[in-house]
Amino acid sequence: MDSILVKGNGPLNGVIPIAGAKNACLTLMPATLLSEEPLTLTNAPRLSDIATMTQLLQSLGAEVASMQNGLVLAMSSHKVDNHTADYEIVRKFRASILVLGPLLARDGHAIVSLPGGCAIGARPVDLHLKAFESMGAELELRDGYVHAKAPGGRLRGAIIEFPFVSVGATENALLAATLAKGTTVLKNAAREPEIVDLAVCLRRMGAQIDGEGTSTITIQGVDRLGGATHPVVTDRIELGTYMLLPAICGGEVECLGGKMSLVGAFAEKLDAAGVSVVETERGLKVTRKNGRVNAVDVVTEPFPGFPTDLQAQMMALLCTADGTSVLEETIFENRFMHAPELVRMGAKIDVHGGHATVTGVEKLRGARVMATDLRASVSLILAGLAAEGETVVSRVYHLDRGYERVEEKLRGVGALIERISA
Ligand code: EPZ
Repeated sequence: MDSILVKGNGPLNGVIPIAGAKNACLTLMPATLLSEEPLTLTNAPRLSDIATMTQLLQSLGAEVASMQNGLVLAMSSHKVDNHTADYEIVRKFRASILVLGPLLARDGHAIVSLPGGCAIGARPVDLHLKAFESMGAELELRDGYVHAKAPGGRLRGAIIEFPFVSVGATENALLAATLAKGTTVLKNAAREPEIVDLAVCLRRMGAQIDGEGTSTITIQGVDRLGGATHPVVTDRIELGTYMLLPAICGGEVECLGGKMSLVGAFAEKLDAAGVSVVETERGLKVTRKNGRVNAVDVVTEPFPGFPTDLQAQMMALLCTADGTSVLEETIFENRFMHAPELVRMGAKIDVHGGHATVTGVEKLRGARVMATDLRASVSLILAGLAAEGETVVSRVYHLDRGYERVEEKLRGVGALIERISA
């Protein structure tokens, strides 16, 4: 398993291109199953998760061609001859559940393995399943698989009120509702930019959708969808991650393609911590207002609140802040696994349930640390770039799931970083 070596090297300066959003691409790709016409995605990120979703769609019979060095995904589901998403793929890749809605909507039947939990939590899919039952699907759980069937081969529109916000359940229901008979209303829907991007793409394919980006989305089912070409929205989590580079190391970094509308709550929090974020015609330019950031409290919330996917990275910054910060993680039940690794680097962190209290120190010290999940891995890289000495982060396969060309991008702003193949 590869590791990454980083060395504290003072302020970082330069520009970083931000890629298309992993979490948008992973819900846009299954949309190909809704149509027999070609669906082409541009600005696609080059990530291992995208490769895994490609394998899954190909295993169902879809054609997926990765072109222009992975930036373009040309897909066609002219034929789908397998309706089973196998455990071997699903167990390591939770986003597989997002093929259930499209398969049900397209052909009225599907068999998808339950994804199982992951490092950051149990992450059940009960809201997804309840949404499909509301739309008339008959579901049976057998041997770890969901066997789903739509009577008469077609889902019917329904009013679905989610008990709490779920990004994936909103996406799965939105995908399925486009071909259902009648009107579907999603209430307490997720408002993430990735949902908006999915709705824009589906509308390009001929879907009739209103209200995306608000808590109520209305979909008028149609009989068939056409093809489309759609650019994947900029990755707001990669953006937020790299905005933290000048905050934790000093210097000035411009994130190309960044837009304030993608990171509103996060940028406000950075401003409160003493980090200036300015929108330029190319993206977002970030610098520290003075020598050291000050402590701020953080509560993670569904969009437009502070994103849970930036909590680990923000904790790395606050480990070096002047003062004490409290971070509250309200979305996942076990998303502080980066804390003990940061403590190995000299951070002062106390974790109690969903709260982490961080008392800032002047300088972290390089150490050998272990990545436990995608966002924890990049949090340790950030800490290592600001620390005295060398940091080796092991198990960086987590990192490659969500951050393309990470060494190249960080070297572009002066970071000392290299990959050590085991
Ligand atoms: C998406 O996961 C993202 N993944 C996650 O990003 C992100 O952290 C999360 O949304 C929240 O923003 C993708 O888009 C591929 P949820 P998802 O359904 O859809 C519980 C990353 O780092 N829940 O909004 O799985 C769930 O356990 C990843 O890129 C149920 O209980 O998140 C969690 O506690 C990590 N039952 C909460 O709701 C359900 O049926 C929010 O989950 C569904 C969810």
